[in-house]
Amino acid sequence: MIAIGTDHIGFEYKQEIIDYLKEMGYMVKDYGTYDKQRTDYPLYGIRVAKAVSSKECELGILICGTGVGISLAANKINGIRAVVCSEPYSAKLSKEHNDTNILSFGSRVIGIEMAKMIVKEWIQTKFEGGRHQRRIDMIAEIEKGNG
Ligand code: RB5
Repeated sequence: MIAIGTDHIGFEYKQEIIDYLKEMGYMVKDYGTYDKQRTDYPLYGIRVAKAVSSKECELGILICGTGVGISLAANKINGIRAVVCSEPYSAKLSKEHNDTNILSFGSRVIGIEMAKMIVKEWIQTKFEGGRHQRRIDMIAEIEKGNG
């Protein structure tokens, strides 16, 4: 199950990405926003981050104007590793090496076809584990106050 959320700026991209995920065979849970009325990105960043950290959803996708604000909010939740990507290479490596569990991008930064390419690359890539796990564990220690 993939959680998705956006502010009003990313609203139109959200529906296209939901349709694209469903075409690829994924189930999607929509955490809003549900229209183009002005709202605040932290609300949706936190909702999706909590859905992922509680394991209600396996992964999350966030969209705002730049992808920055909404990912900053998501990264405040323990266990969340949200990445902002504007191209597929970083998206792929962020999963292989950093085990990112939320992908974020900006609807004012990239076109919808690039967004789909990034989503596909990220969602289909697996975490490599091995030496990378130790570094993920170090990040988790920082969350516990042991940094
Ligand atoms: C909203 O105007 C805008 O600030 C938001 O979509 C996002 O880009 C924040 O990082």
